[in-house]
Amino acid sequence: MCRVAEGEHARPWPRTEAEQRTRELETLQRLAQATLRSLEPREVLQSALATLVHTGWFRCGEAFITGTAGLDTVAVGTCPYTDLKACALRPALLEWVREALEAKEVRQVQGWQIVPIDAEAAIAVSGGQVSRPFLNTVVECIRAAFERARLYTALKEKEAQRARLFKALLNAQEEERTRISRDLHDQVGQALTGIILGLEAALADPNPARLEGLKELAGMTLADVRRIALDLRPSVLDELGLEAALKRYTREVGERYGLEVELVARLPLRLPPEMETVLYRVAQEALTNVVRHARAQRVSVVLTAHRDAVQLVVEDDGVGFDPRRVASTRLGLAGMRERVELLGGQFRLESAPGAGTTVYARLPLKPGGRA
Ligand SMILES: Nc1ncnc2c1ncn2[C@@H]1O[C@H](COP(=O)(O)OP(=O)(O)OP(=O)(O)O)[C@@H](O)[C@H]1O
Ligand SMILES: [Mg+2]
Repeated sequence: MCRVAEGEHARPWPRTEAEQRTRELETLQRLAQATLRSLEPREVLQSALATLVHTGWFRCGEAFITGTAGLDTVAVGTCPYTDLKACALRPALLEWVREALEAKEVRQVQGWQIVPIDAEAAIAVSGGQVSRPFLNTVVECIRAAFERARLYTALKEKEAQRARLFKALLNAQEEERTRISRDLHDQVGQALTGIILGLEAALADPNPARLEGLKELAGMTLADVRRIALDLRPSVLDELGLEAALKRYTREVGERYGLEVELVARLPLRLPPEMETVLYRVAQEALTNVVRHARAQRVSVVLTAHRDAVQLVVEDDGVGFDPRRVASTRLGLAGMRERVELLGGQFRLESAPGAGTTVYARLPLKPGGRA
């Protein structure tokens, strides 16, 4: 068993009920002050445990947060075990914490109280006796501060993600401009120069073969201009609407990559242009991801209109992935979410290794409505 450091838990237990309540209130006040000082989830747990140990309620405490690599320990500093890693109780403690998190309830084992703070974090305290109501209040106080810190962190991460997306958008815009400028200069510009030179020669010496050649060159130039315009935005989206544009796009993807792509689209009417653009871009990115990452055989794209919302679902039978492990530098999924949320919609992703991937985008039909 672990060695416990000297000098902890020195404060004597109160003798009267009134003393007990006073001490509880003092602790709650200190706890609130300590936890509200931090906006970082780990720090909140750390300072909460430090307060509980330093006020003498428990001999030691430890906090656990589920990270990408499993349970992570924090607040080691408040634990008086001199060598935590060598503690014989440790494997069992980790197991109890997992069980408490799974069951979403407090566990009391071998002098430890293990209390879930949310679905992914718990604290474990030992070496003290507290009343249930006091413990509940303590936990509520920690939960409130922890949730606030979690929200703040999520908001900060979202802001950073937005900044990355904005930068990527600017870069993509710049690249697109460079490409259009090069296409216009190299292809259209040179072809028009050729046509002008040819026309000058034809003015001096009108000759049907030369005029025929010039007509052909003009035809090719027109085709180039159409291609450049199409690359910028599929005109079929504006002219014939989302259903027709998706029909063409899914057919092209299926043929080009040997994928079985099924499209079911039931839209009784044309959608506002910004909604059509968002749904088209989401389908485009989702299918690009299927081609790049999924190793799928089949993918279905389903577009349906409900009374107050339009929903797009792209589902593949590929390798799937763990969405919690996507690096924040990847922008495709974040970009889809951003586009959908900007129109007041909801974006959802379901995937797990070996279980395929489904992307849902739902946009409200009423202006200003929520999906
Ligand atoms: N349909 C899918 N099947 C399997 N893995 C996927 C699928 N969609 C996304 N992923 C995984 O999620 C990660 C993130 O996707 P995301 O679209 O955000 O980025 P990306 O495609 O890697 O790069 P980009 O920023 O150019 O889109 C991918 O790298 C891939 O590992
Ligand atoms: Mg992508």
